[in-house]
Amino acid sequence: MVSAWPEPVVRVQSLSDSGIDSIPDSYVKPIYDRPLHMDISSNSNQPDNIPVIDLANLYSHDLTLRKTTMDLISDACRHWGFFQLINHGVSYHLMAEVRRVWREFFHLPLEKKQEYANSPATYEGYGSRLGVEKGAKLDWSDYFFLHFLPVSIRNESKWPQSCRELVSEYNEAVLKLCGKLMKIFSLNLGLEEENAFGGEQVVGASLRVNLYPKCPQPDLTLGISPHSDPGGITVLLPDHHVSGLQVRKDNAWLTVKPIPNAFIINLADQLEVVSNGQYKSVEHRVIVNSNQDRLSLAFFYNPRGDILIRPLLTDNEPPLYDQPMTFNDYRTFIRLNGLHGKSQVQSLKSPR
Ligand code: OGA
Ligand code: NI
Repeated sequence: MVSAWPEPVVRVQSLSDSGIDSIPDSYVKPIYDRPLHMDISSNSNQPDNIPVIDLANLYSHDLTLRKTTMDLISDACRHWGFFQLINHGVSYHLMAEVRRVWREFFHLPLEKKQEYANSPATYEGYGSRLGVEKGAKLDWSDYFFLHFLPVSIRNESKWPQSCRELVSEYNEAVLKLCGKLMKIFSLNLGLEEENAFGGEQVVGASLRVNLYPKCPQPDLTLGISPHSDPGGITVLLPDHHVSGLQVRKDNAWLTVKPIPNAFIINLADQLEVVSNGQYKSVEHRVIVNSNQDRLSLAFFYNPRGDILIRPLLTDNEPPLYDQPMTFNDYRTFIRLNGLHGKSQVQSLKSPR
C-alpha cells in the first residue's frame, strides 16, 4: 500500500487565492486534453438534451404513467448512462444545508483544513490529487472524501465536526434513493436480484465533496480529467449557479445545465459490468472558469468490495466482461494510476 504522496501537496484553493495570473506547469494539460480542443467537439452552446426523469411519476396512481416512466429510465440508462432526476424525495432544505456546511468547511483557514489532510492509503480526508504517479498532470480541484458504508469503515471522527450531523442525514437520504434506483434498474434489466450489489446491509458508499476554485487560465486545465466513476451509481448534487460538468455523448462534450434541486444520476463501471454492457458507464469531466468557484457533492453507491463482480446474465448471452475483479481491487488500481477515461472498465473484457 502506498502511504505517501509523491510530491508535496499544494492546495488549489491556496493557489487560486494567491492571485497568480498564470497557473503552474503541473496543471497545464497537453493540448488534446484541454477544454477547447476540437478533436471531440465542445458544443457548450447547444442544448444539452440530457434526459430528465420525474421520479414521482413512478409512484403515481396512473399505471400507464408508471410504465412510461420505467421506459424513460430504461432508455436513459441504455443510451445516455446519465440523467437529471427531479422529485426524487430528498429534502431540498437538507440539500441546501449540506452544501452550506461544506462551503463553510472549504472557507476555513488552511491550517484548520490541513488537520484533515489525506494520504493515498485510504484517501479519506482533505485531498488535492488522485493517483500517485510522480510528475503527473494535476487537476484544478480540492476535495474531501469520506467513507459511509460499510459501517465497519465509517469513522465519523475523521469528518469535519461542523459537517457530521448533516452528512449522516444527507447520506442516509441519498442511500435510500440509491436503493430505489437499484431496484428500478434491476427490474428494467430483468435481473432476479432486487439489488445486484448485495443489498443495503453490504453495499459500499462514500461521499466526495469537490471544490473547483476560480482559475486564471481555465482553457489550459480541467477541474477533473475525463473518467467514468468506478462504482455502481453516482448521485451528484451539482452547483446550479455555476456549470462545469461535461458528459461525453458520442463524439461531443456536452455541458450539463443543472436544474435547481435536481440530482444528476450517473451510471458507473460496476453497473456496466453487471448489466453486461446493456447499461454504459458514462465518461465525464469538469471544466473550470475564472469568475466563480464551484462546489459539488458526489455520492458513490458501490457493490460490496470483496466479491468478484461479473455480468448477471438474463438469457444465453456470452459474458463480455470475463475478467472479473473485486471492487476493492478495481478501486485500488484507480487510486494508484489516476483517471484515464474508460480504459479500466474496457480492460475487464478479453480481447476478441
Ligand atoms: C466526481 C465527478 C463531477 C462534478 O466527483 O467523480 O465526476 O461535477 N464530479 O463535480
Ligand atoms: Ni465522476
